[in-house]
Amino acid sequence: KIKEKIAEVNSFTADNLEAVETFRIKYLGKKGILNDFFAEFKNVPNEQKKEFGQTINELKQAATEKVESLKEVLESVTTNEQVYGDLTRPGNPIELGARHPISIVKNKIIDVFSRIGFNVSEGPEIEDDWHNFTALNLPEYHPARDMQDTFFVQTDPDILLRTHTSSVQVRYMENNQPPIRTISPGRVYRNEAISARSHCFFHQVEGLYIDKDVSFADLKQTLQYFTTELFGKSKIRLRPSYFPFTEPSAEVDVYWGLETETDYKMTKGTGWLEIMGCGMVDPNVLKNCGIDPDIYSGFAFGMGIDRIALLLHQISDIRLLSENDLRFLEQFKSTL
Ligand code: PHE
Repeated sequence: KIKEKIAEVNSFTADNLEAVETFRIKYLGKKGILNDFFAEFKNVPNEQKKEFGQTINELKQAATEKVESLKEVLESVTTNEQVYGDLTRPGNPIELGARHPISIVKNKIIDVFSRIGFNVSEGPEIEDDWHNFTALNLPEYHPARDMQDTFFVQTDPDILLRTHTSSVQVRYMENNQPPIRTISPGRVYRNEAISARSHCFFHQVEGLYIDKDVSFADLKQTLQYFTTELFGKSKIRLRPSYFPFTEPSAEVDVYWGLETETDYKMTKGTGWLEIMGCGMVDPNVLKNCGIDPDIYSGFAFGMGIDRIALLLHQISDIRLLSENDLRFLEQFKSTL
């Protein structure tokens, strides 16, 4: 009878701790099977006592071991709850960074021009004299070089920090034949006093369009398209100006509404705000870059991204754009 119980004990399994506890009480509890057998011990004839006792002990050992091994297995199982906690809890929000306002505006400008077939070209920030000046019709000692206070690299007067991304256009023309439609965004450097309105480095997007029969009318319409896409319905005007690399040249003003106090301050009380320079590419420049001016003509324009960013986002000081103050940068979180 005890042997039957031993077999029963050995084949017992459980998948939870309550079942193990029930099993323990059934065999090893005060009123359990084991104690029943012990109680019978005194009724067993003397010559069988030894064997009987050994068998009971075997049962006791089997039951004890069973309980312990089952407990060990079941207690080592970890549940999802233990690993992950309460899965019905709301999740933590993911912290996303923000794009820099310069990048936001640059990407917008690229987007507007890419819709009318312009690609994006880039070049080095450390330039040589040829690409930044000479090829652009600014030979040595040309007075217009003074317009762009240049940082030179001390050891070599031929090497400088580019003062405009027109240098990228030179490189592009040297390596591509028309039709050319490209915009060149990038950082540029000028040795200027730092103030709320200007910095010694800033960002430009310059554009270049070269093909047969390109006229000033194409330039003006392209600019009107651009300002409308970027600022909304807008009025522009072109004022005659001078750049060595374009002829004729013009300065582009956009009419800025005076709806708020900030707008008023930004425009210093007048509605017309200068946003870029432009003109028809000088034939000398085309020649310098290996393009035949008897066959091709084209226009170019260039604008500062920083000032446009100040306008579009009503930022009062250009220095905020390069100070990396998180309180400032975080404000652009929802803007792509
Ligand atoms: N390169 C000029 C500047 O940096 C801008 C410009 C580009 C003007 C192309 C005319 C044509 O000021």
